[in-house]
Amino acid sequence: MTKTVLRVLGGEAVWPPPVWLMRQAGRYLPEYRAMRAQAGDFLKLCLTPELAAEITLQPLRRFGMDAAILFSDLPIVSLGLGQNLRYAEGEGPVLPPIRTEADLDALSLDKVAATVAPVWETVRRIAADIGDATLIGFSGAPFTVACYMVEGHGSRDFASARLMAYREPALFARLIDLIVAGNLIYLRGQADAGAEVLMLFDSWAGMLPPNEFRRWVIEPTARIVAALHATHPHIPIIGFPRLAGAMLGDYALNARVQGVAIDTSMKPESAADMVRPHIALQGNLDPLALVAGGEPMHTSARRILDALRGRPHIFNLGHGVVPQTPPENVGALVEQIRAA
Ligand code: CP3
Repeated sequence: MTKTVLRVLGGEAVWPPPVWLMRQAGRYLPEYRAMRAQAGDFLKLCLTPELAAEITLQPLRRFGMDAAILFSDLPIVSLGLGQNLRYAEGEGPVLPPIRTEADLDALSLDKVAATVAPVWETVRRIAADIGDATLIGFSGAPFTVACYMVEGHGSRDFASARLMAYREPALFARLIDLIVAGNLIYLRGQADAGAEVLMLFDSWAGMLPPNEFRRWVIEPTARIVAALHATHPHIPIIGFPRLAGAMLGDYALNARVQGVAIDTSMKPESAADMVRPHIALQGNLDPLALVAGGEPMHTSARRILDALRGRPHIFNLGHGVVPQTPPENVGALVEQIRAA
Protein backbone atom coordinates (compact mmCIF):
# COMPACT_ATOMS: atom_id res chain seq x y z
CA MET A 1 0.00 0.00 0.00
CA THR A 2 1.32 3.37 -0.97
CA LYS A 3 1.47 5.76 1.97
CA THR A 4 -1.53 8.12 2.11
CA VAL A 5 0.51 11.34 1.97
CA LEU A 6 2.17 10.11 -1.24
CA ARG A 7 -1.19 9.11 -2.74
CA VAL A 8 -2.57 12.58 -2.07
CA LEU A 9 0.50 14.24 -3.57
CA GLY A 10 -0.04 11.97 -6.58
CA GLY A 11 -3.38 13.73 -7.08
CA GLU A 12 -5.74 11.32 -5.29
CA ALA A 13 -8.47 12.47 -2.91
CA VAL A 14 -8.17 10.24 0.17
CA TRP A 15 -10.83 10.22 2.90
CA PRO A 16 -10.24 10.87 5.73
CA PRO A 17 -7.25 12.97 4.66
CA PRO A 18 -3.80 12.26 6.07
CA VAL A 19 -2.68 14.67 8.80
CA TRP A 20 0.55 16.20 10.09
CA LEU A 21 1.28 19.63 11.57
CA MET A 22 3.93 22.20 10.73
CA ARG A 23 6.24 22.55 13.76
CA GLN A 24 4.78 19.39 15.25
CA ALA A 25 8.14 18.89 16.96
CA GLY A 26 9.14 21.64 19.34
CA ARG A 27 8.64 23.57 22.50
CA TYR A 28 5.03 22.60 23.28
CA LEU A 29 6.31 19.06 23.97
CA PRO A 30 7.99 18.40 27.35
CA GLU A 31 10.16 15.69 25.76
CA TYR A 32 11.49 18.29 23.30
CA ARG A 33 12.17 20.83 26.05
CA ALA A 34 14.12 18.18 27.96
CA MET A 35 16.39 17.44 24.98
CA ARG A 36 16.75 21.13 24.20
CA ALA A 37 17.85 21.84 27.79
CA GLN A 38 20.33 18.97 27.60
CA ALA A 39 21.86 20.16 24.30
CA GLY A 40 21.85 23.82 25.41
CA ASP A 41 22.01 25.20 21.89
CA PHE A 42 19.30 24.96 19.22
CA LEU A 43 21.78 24.78 16.32
CA LYS A 44 23.61 21.93 18.04
CA LEU A 45 20.28 20.11 18.19
CA CYS A 46 19.80 20.61 14.43
CA LEU A 47 23.31 19.35 13.63
CA THR A 48 23.43 16.32 15.95
CA PRO A 49 21.82 13.47 13.98
CA GLU A 50 21.01 11.32 17.00
CA LEU A 51 19.13 14.16 18.75
CA ALA A 52 17.49 15.65 15.65
CA ALA A 53 16.21 12.22 14.55
CA GLU A 54 14.75 11.53 17.99
CA ILE A 55 13.03 14.95 18.11
CA THR A 56 11.57 14.41 14.63
CA LEU A 57 9.92 11.21 15.80
CA GLN A 58 8.68 12.47 19.20
CA PRO A 59 5.31 13.77 17.94
CA LEU A 60 4.70 10.57 15.93
CA ARG A 61 5.23 8.39 18.99
CA ARG A 62 2.72 10.45 20.92
CA PHE A 63 0.07 11.20 18.30
CA GLY A 64 0.70 8.95 15.27
CA MET A 65 0.60 11.58 12.53
CA ASP A 66 0.89 10.41 8.89
CA ALA A 67 4.10 12.31 8.26
CA ALA A 68 7.13 13.64 10.10
CA ILE A 69 9.07 16.68 8.98
CA LEU A 70 12.82 16.61 9.42
CA PHE A 71 13.81 18.51 12.55
CA SER A 72 16.09 21.27 11.32
CA ASP A 73 15.59 24.96 10.51
CA LEU A 74 14.88 27.17 7.55
CA PRO A 75 18.24 29.00 7.15
CA ILE A 76 20.55 25.96 7.49
CA VAL A 77 21.36 26.32 3.77
CA SER A 78 22.85 29.78 4.47
CA LEU A 79 25.19 28.15 6.98
CA GLY A 80 26.19 25.76 4.19
CA LEU A 81 26.94 28.74 1.92
CA GLY A 82 29.40 30.01 4.52
CA GLN A 83 27.35 32.63 6.36
CA ASN A 84 27.75 32.35 10.08
CA LEU A 85 24.41 31.46 11.71
CA ARG A 86 23.52 31.49 15.36
CA TYR A 87 20.44 31.56 17.53
CA ALA A 88 20.11 34.17 20.23
CA GLU A 89 18.15 32.81 23.20
CA GLY A 90 14.42 33.25 22.66
CA GLU A 91 14.93 34.70 19.17
CA GLY A 92 15.11 33.31 15.68
CA PRO A 93 18.15 33.13 13.38
CA VAL A 94 20.88 35.81 13.62
CA LEU A 95 23.39 36.19 10.74
CA PRO A 96 25.99 38.77 9.63
CA PRO A 97 23.95 40.68 7.00
CA ILE A 98 24.82 40.41 3.30
CA ARG A 99 24.70 43.95 1.89
CA THR A 100 27.46 44.27 -0.74
CA GLU A 101 29.09 42.46 -3.66
CA ALA A 102 32.05 41.70 -1.35
CA ASP A 103 29.76 40.12 1.28
CA LEU A 104 28.38 37.87 -1.44
CA ASP A 105 31.88 37.07 -2.80
CA ALA A 106 32.71 35.54 0.59
CA LEU A 107 30.02 32.87 0.14
CA SER A 108 30.36 29.75 -2.00
CA LEU A 109 28.99 26.32 -2.75
CA ASP A 110 32.28 24.59 -1.83
CA LYS A 111 31.37 23.67 1.72
CA VAL A 112 27.62 23.10 1.43
CA ALA A 113 27.91 19.30 1.38
CA ALA A 114 30.37 19.10 4.29
CA THR A 115 28.28 21.51 6.41
CA VAL A 116 24.89 19.90 5.84
CA ALA A 117 26.16 16.28 5.98
CA PRO A 118 24.88 15.87 9.60
CA VAL A 119 21.36 16.75 8.38
CA TRP A 120 21.61 14.04 5.71
CA GLU A 121 22.66 11.59 8.42
CA THR A 122 19.62 12.69 10.47
CA VAL A 123 17.38 11.91 7.48
CA ARG A 124 18.99 8.46 7.13
CA ARG A 125 18.30 7.69 10.79
CA ILE A 126 14.68 8.89 10.65
CA ALA A 127 14.05 6.90 7.46
CA ALA A 128 15.25 3.73 9.19
CA ASP A 129 12.86 4.29 12.10
CA ILE A 130 9.76 5.98 10.69
CA GLY A 131 7.63 2.92 9.87
CA ASP A 132 4.46 3.66 7.87
CA ALA A 133 4.62 7.44 8.12
CA THR A 134 6.05 9.64 5.36
CA LEU A 135 9.33 11.50 5.83
CA ILE A 136 9.29 15.11 4.64
CA GLY A 137 12.59 16.92 4.10
CA PHE A 138 12.68 20.69 3.70
CA SER A 139 14.56 23.92 3.24
CA GLY A 140 13.74 27.59 3.16
CA ALA A 141 12.70 28.80 -0.30
CA PRO A 142 15.15 31.23 -1.94
CA PHE A 143 13.26 34.47 -1.27
CA THR A 144 12.67 33.79 2.42
CA VAL A 145 16.25 32.57 2.96
CA ALA A 146 17.47 35.74 1.17
CA CYS A 147 15.31 37.80 3.55
CA TYR A 148 17.19 36.40 6.55
CA MET A 149 20.60 36.53 4.81
CA VAL A 150 20.25 40.22 3.88
CA GLU A 151 18.39 41.43 6.96
CA GLY A 152 20.56 39.41 9.34
CA HIS A 153 17.65 38.55 11.65
CA GLY A 154 13.88 38.19 11.75
CA SER A 155 11.93 41.33 10.91
CA ARG A 156 8.36 42.57 10.54
CA ASP A 157 8.96 43.78 6.98
CA PHE A 158 12.46 42.66 5.81
CA ALA A 159 12.85 46.14 4.32
CA SER A 160 16.61 45.82 3.64
CA ALA A 161 16.10 42.66 1.61
CA ARG A 162 13.15 44.05 -0.35
CA LEU A 163 15.00 47.31 -1.01
CA MET A 164 18.04 45.42 -2.29
CA ALA A 165 15.74 43.62 -4.72
CA TYR A 166 14.57 47.02 -6.11
CA ARG A 167 17.83 48.98 -5.95
CA GLU A 168 20.35 46.30 -6.83
CA PRO A 169 18.39 43.62 -8.66
CA ALA A 170 21.56 42.09 -10.16
CA LEU A 171 23.08 41.64 -6.71
CA PHE A 172 19.85 40.25 -5.27
CA ALA A 173 19.51 37.91 -8.27
CA ARG A 174 23.06 36.64 -7.67
CA LEU A 175 22.15 35.89 -4.06
CA ILE A 176 18.94 34.12 -5.12
CA ASP A 177 20.90 32.06 -7.69
CA LEU A 178 23.38 31.02 -5.02
CA ILE A 179 20.57 29.94 -2.68
CA VAL A 180 18.93 27.98 -5.52
CA ALA A 181 22.21 26.13 -6.15
CA GLY A 182 22.83 25.56 -2.42
CA ASN A 183 19.29 24.30 -1.94
CA LEU A 184 19.72 21.87 -4.83
CA ILE A 185 22.74 20.28 -3.17
CA TYR A 186 21.00 20.27 0.22
CA LEU A 187 17.65 18.88 -0.99
CA ARG A 188 19.09 16.27 -3.37
CA GLY A 189 21.13 14.97 -0.43
CA GLN A 190 17.98 14.77 1.68
CA ALA A 191 16.20 12.83 -1.08
CA ASP A 192 19.17 10.47 -1.45
CA ALA A 193 19.18 9.93 2.32
CA GLY A 194 15.53 8.85 2.35
CA ALA A 195 13.27 11.92 2.35
CA GLU A 196 10.10 10.95 0.45
CA VAL A 197 8.67 14.45 0.02
CA LEU A 198 10.42 17.84 -0.02
CA MET A 199 8.87 21.08 1.21
CA LEU A 200 9.94 24.66 0.49
CA PHE A 201 8.93 27.22 3.13
CA ASP A 202 8.47 30.71 1.67
CA SER A 203 7.22 32.33 4.86
CA TRP A 204 7.67 35.92 3.67
CA ALA A 205 6.49 35.49 0.06
CA GLY A 206 3.28 37.41 0.77
CA MET A 207 5.14 40.72 1.26
CA LEU A 208 5.83 40.99 -2.47
CA PRO A 209 3.66 42.70 -5.12
CA PRO A 210 2.65 40.46 -8.07
CA ASN A 211 5.59 41.22 -10.40
CA GLU A 212 8.17 40.80 -7.67
CA PHE A 213 6.34 37.71 -6.43
CA ARG A 214 6.76 36.15 -9.90
CA ARG A 215 10.41 37.08 -10.12
CA TRP A 216 11.63 36.25 -6.59
CA VAL A 217 9.18 33.56 -5.43
CA ILE A 218 7.72 31.66 -8.40
CA GLU A 219 10.68 31.76 -10.78
CA PRO A 220 13.41 30.53 -8.36
CA THR A 221 11.05 27.92 -6.91
CA ALA A 222 10.26 26.69 -10.43
CA ARG A 223 13.98 26.32 -11.12
CA ILE A 224 14.48 24.24 -7.99
CA VAL A 225 11.48 22.05 -8.76
CA ALA A 226 12.56 21.46 -12.38
CA ALA A 227 16.15 20.65 -11.41
CA LEU A 228 15.06 18.32 -8.60
CA HIS A 229 12.68 16.52 -10.92
CA ALA A 230 15.44 16.13 -13.51
CA THR A 231 17.46 14.05 -11.04
CA HIS A 232 14.65 12.73 -8.78
CA PRO A 233 11.62 12.52 -11.10
CA HIS A 234 9.27 10.94 -8.59
CA ILE A 235 9.77 13.08 -5.50
CA PRO A 236 6.72 15.23 -4.74
CA ILE A 237 7.34 18.83 -3.69
CA ILE A 238 5.11 20.95 -1.46
CA GLY A 239 5.46 24.73 -1.68
CA PHE A 240 4.35 27.08 1.08
CA PRO A 241 4.07 30.62 -0.33
CA ARG A 242 2.70 32.07 2.88
CA LEU A 243 0.18 34.92 2.41
CA ALA A 244 0.32 34.53 -1.38
CA GLY A 245 -3.38 35.44 -1.56
CA ALA A 246 -4.54 35.92 -5.13
CA MET A 247 -1.11 34.77 -6.43
CA LEU A 248 -1.70 31.22 -5.18
CA GLY A 249 -3.00 29.86 -8.50
CA ASP A 250 -0.14 31.41 -10.47
CA TYR A 251 2.32 29.91 -7.96
CA ALA A 252 0.86 26.39 -8.09
CA LEU A 253 0.73 26.31 -11.87
CA ASN A 254 4.09 27.87 -12.66
CA ALA A 255 6.24 26.57 -9.81
CA ARG A 256 5.01 23.10 -10.83
CA VAL A 257 4.74 21.79 -7.27
CA GLN A 258 2.63 18.74 -6.42
CA GLY A 259 1.23 20.32 -3.27
CA VAL A 260 0.54 23.81 -2.01
CA ALA A 261 0.39 24.61 1.68
CA ILE A 262 -2.19 27.30 2.40
CA ASP A 263 -1.96 29.77 5.27
CA THR A 264 -4.60 30.57 7.84
CA SER A 265 -5.96 33.60 5.97
CA MET A 266 -6.81 31.62 2.82
CA LYS A 267 -10.40 30.45 2.38
CA PRO A 268 -10.06 26.74 1.48
CA GLU A 269 -12.79 27.04 -1.18
CA SER A 270 -10.88 29.91 -2.83
CA ALA A 271 -7.67 27.91 -2.82
CA ALA A 272 -9.58 25.01 -4.37
CA ASP A 273 -10.86 27.36 -7.12
CA MET A 274 -7.43 28.83 -7.83
CA VAL A 275 -5.37 25.65 -7.83
CA ARG A 276 -5.84 22.91 -10.43
CA PRO A 277 -7.68 19.88 -9.05
CA HIS A 278 -4.78 17.39 -9.32
CA ILE A 279 -2.54 19.56 -7.13
CA ALA A 280 -2.85 18.74 -3.43
CA LEU A 281 -3.80 21.42 -0.90
CA GLN A 282 -2.30 21.26 2.57
CA GLY A 283 -3.69 23.17 5.53
CA ASN A 284 -5.01 25.35 7.03
CA LEU A 285 -6.27 25.35 10.64
CA ASP A 286 -5.39 28.41 12.70
CA PRO A 287 -2.64 27.44 15.19
CA LEU A 288 -4.56 29.41 17.84
CA ALA A 289 -7.67 27.27 17.28
CA LEU A 290 -5.37 24.39 18.23
CA VAL A 291 -4.33 26.27 21.38
CA ALA A 292 -8.00 26.87 22.25
CA GLY A 293 -9.02 23.26 21.62
CA GLY A 294 -12.54 21.96 22.25
CA GLU A 295 -15.51 23.16 20.23
CA PRO A 296 -13.79 26.11 18.45
CA MET A 297 -11.00 23.80 17.24
CA HIS A 298 -13.34 21.00 16.15
CA THR A 299 -15.71 23.38 14.34
CA SER A 300 -12.84 25.08 12.50
CA ALA A 301 -11.28 21.74 11.54
CA ARG A 302 -14.66 20.42 10.35
CA ARG A 303 -15.11 23.43 8.06
CA ILE A 304 -11.76 22.75 6.40
CA LEU A 305 -12.46 19.03 6.03
CA ASP A 306 -15.84 19.73 4.42
CA ALA A 307 -14.50 22.46 2.14
CA LEU A 308 -11.77 20.24 0.69
CA ARG A 309 -13.55 16.90 0.66
CA GLY A 310 -13.30 15.29 -2.77
CA ARG A 311 -9.98 16.82 -3.69
CA PRO A 312 -6.43 15.87 -2.74
CA HIS A 313 -5.97 17.32 0.76
CA ILE A 314 -3.42 16.87 3.54
CA PHE A 315 -4.81 18.21 6.80
CA ASN A 316 -2.42 20.63 8.53
CA LEU A 317 -2.26 24.02 10.19
CA GLY A 318 -2.00 27.31 8.31
CA HIS A 319 1.25 28.05 10.18
CA GLY A 320 3.39 26.29 12.79
CA VAL A 321 2.31 24.89 16.17
CA VAL A 322 2.98 27.56 18.81
CA PRO A 323 4.78 26.80 22.11
CA GLN A 324 1.71 27.40 24.35
CA THR A 325 -0.26 24.61 22.61
CA PRO A 326 -1.61 22.00 25.06
CA PRO A 327 -0.31 18.63 23.75
CA GLU A 328 -3.69 16.97 24.46
CA ASN A 329 -5.32 19.30 21.90
CA VAL A 330 -2.98 17.92 19.24
CA GLY A 331 -4.09 14.40 20.19
CA ALA A 332 -7.77 15.42 20.01
CA LEU A 333 -7.27 17.02 16.58
CA VAL A 334 -5.53 13.96 15.12
CA GLU A 335 -8.38 11.78 16.47
CA GLN A 336 -10.99 14.06 14.93
CA ILE A 337 -9.36 13.84 11.49
CA ARG A 338 -9.02 10.04 11.74
CA ALA A 339 -12.71 9.71 12.65
CA ALA A 340 -13.93 12.15 9.95
O1 CP3 B 1 8.15 20.32 13.17
C1 CP3 B 1 9.25 20.93 13.28
O2 CP3 B 1 9.59 21.49 14.31
C2 CP3 B 1 10.20 20.89 12.10
C3 CP3 B 1 11.36 21.76 12.16
C4 CP3 B 1 11.20 23.25 11.84
C5 CP3 B 1 11.63 24.31 12.71
N1 CP3 B 1 11.50 25.47 12.03
C6 CP3 B 1 12.14 24.10 14.08
C7 CP3 B 1 12.41 25.27 14.96
C8 CP3 B 1 10.74 23.84 10.66
C9 CP3 B 1 10.11 23.18 9.44
C10 CP3 B 1 10.96 25.24 10.80
C11 CP3 B 1 10.67 26.20 9.71
C12 CP3 B 1 10.98 27.63 9.90
N2 CP3 B 1 11.98 28.19 10.65
C13 CP3 B 1 10.30 28.67 9.24
C14 CP3 B 1 9.19 28.47 8.23
C15 CP3 B 1 7.87 28.32 8.86
C16 CP3 B 1 7.40 29.57 9.49
O3 CP3 B 1 7.32 29.58 10.74
O4 CP3 B 1 7.07 30.52 8.76
C17 CP3 B 1 10.89 29.89 9.66
C18 CP3 B 1 10.49 31.28 9.23
C19 CP3 B 1 11.96 29.57 10.54
C20 CP3 B 1 12.93 30.50 11.20
C21 CP3 B 1 12.91 30.41 12.66
N3 CP3 B 1 13.44 29.37 13.39
C22 CP3 B 1 12.39 31.36 13.57
C23 CP3 B 1 11.71 32.65 13.16
C24 CP3 B 1 12.61 30.86 14.86
C25 CP3 B 1 12.32 31.57 16.17
C26 CP3 B 1 10.88 31.67 16.48
C27 CP3 B 1 10.31 30.35 16.94
O5 CP3 B 1 9.22 30.01 16.48
O6 CP3 B 1 10.94 29.72 17.78
C28 CP3 B 1 13.24 29.60 14.73
C29 CP3 B 1 13.64 28.66 15.81
C30 CP3 B 1 13.07 27.28 15.75
N4 CP3 B 1 12.90 26.52 14.62
C31 CP3 B 1 12.64 26.51 16.88
C32 CP3 B 1 12.24 25.25 16.39
C33 CP3 B 1 11.75 24.07 17.20
C34 CP3 B 1 12.70 26.96 18.33
C35 CP3 B 1 14.10 26.85 18.83
C36 CP3 B 1 14.20 26.63 20.32
O7 CP3 B 1 13.99 25.52 20.77
O8 CP3 B 1 14.52 27.62 21.00
